Amino acid sequence: MRVLGIESSCDETGIAIYDSEKGLLAHALHSQVALHAEYGGVVPELASRDHVRYLIPLLDKAFEQAGIKKTEIDGVAYTAGPGLMGALMVGACAGRSLAYSLGVPAVGVHHMEGHLLAPMLEHKAPEFPFIALLVSGGHTLLAKVDGVGQYKILGESLDDAAGEAFDKTAKMLDLGYPGGPILAKLAEQGRPGIYKFPRPMIDRPGLEFSFSGLKTFALNTMQKSDGSEQSKADIALAFEEAVVDTLMIKSRRAIRETGIKTLVIAGGVGANQRLRRELSSMAEKEGGQLYYPRVEFCTDNGAMIAYAGCLRLQAGQTEDIKINVRARWPMEELVSL
Ligand code: KG4
Ligand code: ZN
Repeated sequence: MRVLGIESSCDETGIAIYDSEKGLLAHALHSQVALHAEYGGVVPELASRDHVRYLIPLLDKAFEQAGIKKTEIDGVAYTAGPGLMGALMVGACAGRSLAYSLGVPAVGVHHMEGHLLAPMLEHKAPEFPFIALLVSGGHTLLAKVDGVGQYKILGESLDDAAGEAFDKTAKMLDLGYPGGPILAKLAEQGRPGIYKFPRPMIDRPGLEFSFSGLKTFALNTMQKSDGSEQSKADIALAFEEAVVDTLMIKSRRAIRETGIKTLVIAGGVGANQRLRRELSSMAEKEGGQLYYPRVEFCTDNGAMIAYAGCLRLQAGQTEDIKINVRARWPMEELVSL
């Protein structure tokens, strides 16, 4: 089965074509980073308009890359939520309409399910059951994954998501947008041991997270420092270590509590090299293994949507021809396959 995937939930337009036998045939992406940079964050209305602008040219590019015609796809998958309503509507309208005109089924995919299943696009793919650490700009959660659509949330962030904490701290350090990768790059210049940040909520039982205190801690540390570039780098490193350590400790707790030793990281913060290193060595010490998608499939992309949609369409999932998107959508409401 060949499925076209469309991602437009936030600030990236992603189009991909996935073939259940041959794998990924094409993937094209347009990032809106430059567009939102001057505002220091995503402006929803600008995001929607940019998706309108780039969606059709990217579709053409993807079909050209795959070397197939539009009539040669068997289904369409688009992100139906969670995300920005206007942005989601662009992909959903295009996806549904295209599917209708071609007489093929369409399915609305949960963005976080896309992230969660993205490691399965890789050569070294995890097998169910596994523990998933989902760390994106909007979500931080640990889930027990027994199969497609079988997600038990073990713990979530009570306030800022990990990516959001990276972005806000970067903004405070005046590093620009999007903050996560810039802060991570600066942290490479940081000197270990200069500052020590707290590891929020590790003394309490449970698998909940809280990251909003770390940005306040970073602000206070910044105000007490000499404000030099070196100090910023030292703060960036101490902040990154605190986030990574906290995510590692909670993931280890999830492994020990469930007895499931296969760990998956996905979502934008999954691109963070320190996080990958720490989680990988922890998982090995626990007798398990860490799986993650290639860096470009950690952040938003069409491939993960095409893949998740393909699994759902193959399992026979059907939907009305209504165009339905949701800004909020709890993962546990998903239909299991
Ligand atoms: O999954 P994603 O592309 O979008 C959402 O679904 O939210 O995640 C974007 C988030 C942003 O907060 C970004 O700063 C963060 O992922 N991010 C990183 C890195 N690359 C992206 N955070 C830390 N280190 C990175 N290397
Ligand atoms: Zn995402």
